[in-house]
Amino acid sequence: MTSNNVPLCCFGAGGHGRVVASQWRRVNKGEIVFADERLAIGSKTDGFPVRFSALADVQGHSLIITVGNNGLRRELQQRACELNLRMTSIVIEPERYFGEAPGLGSVVLAGALVNCGARIGAGVIVNSGAVVEHDCEVGDFVHLSPNATLTGGCSIGEESWIGAGAVVLPGISVAARCIVGSGAVVTRNLVRPGIYTGVPARWGGRKDGTDIWRNGDARADPRQGQLT
Ligand SMILES: CC(C)(COP(=O)(O)OP(=O)(O)OC[C@H]1O[C@@H](n2cnc3c(N)ncnc32)[C@H](O)[C@@H]1OP(=O)(O)O)[C@@H](O)C(=O)NCCC(=O)NCCS
Repeated sequence: MTSNNVPLCCFGAGGHGRVVASQWRRVNKGEIVFADERLAIGSKTDGFPVRFSALADVQGHSLIITVGNNGLRRELQQRACELNLRMTSIVIEPERYFGEAPGLGSVVLAGALVNCGARIGAGVIVNSGAVVEHDCEVGDFVHLSPNATLTGGCSIGEESWIGAGAVVLPGISVAARCIVGSGAVVTRNLVRPGIYTGVPARWGGRKDGTDIWRNGDARADPRQGQLT
């Protein structure tokens, strides 16, 4: 894990990247820079310099992929590993972290609580105020949105996205590549990819018949690549 005074490079200066950088600045004295192909080198975002453009250019810093889109984050992290870049993981408030050490490239943001026996995979976002209760398993490249709660013994499959304030009840499993809408309560195992909303959470496609995974919706489609 990255600790004080280690220079950090956040790849992706969108909303999530700015959150990670600003929270890390509060607890850390080291340099923080962005890499982002969309921004001019030498410009600043929220006071942080854009130092690099392409992933391959990043050097002299520990790297974290700060892209909200789960599938794109996975692709970028894989590329960074292939390039032998030095990756790290970040826990903003270690005093609220009681689980096993998070996987490479994961970020655990302010106010999040991770309890004993919890396992956090690689490239996971545990967003501000999210709760991962005891003995939960969080798969690689999952995003737990702000204030999402995994009660005890849950398991969340790879690349799934749990929306803000959603709750997963004890012992429930969520398959890979599910989207659980904000405010939903998951009361049964979710066994296939899809969008689940409401209380209790129910599977639902879109009314217009489009598929959120294939129609280019950058908010959810991990292959479409908008850096949010
Ligand atoms: C579930 C979700 C992904 C659906 O996105 P979408 O397919 O683009 O949905 P739309 O906005 O087109 O809405 C489709 C329908 O679902 C309903 N709906 C959308 N989100 C809902 C939710 N969370 N709970 C209940 N109903 C929801 C809409 O009201 C709409 O219903 P209508 O057709 O009767 O008007 C999205 O609404 C959501 O909850 N995202 C999580 C956001 C979040 O937590 N972000 C945190 C970022 S850090």
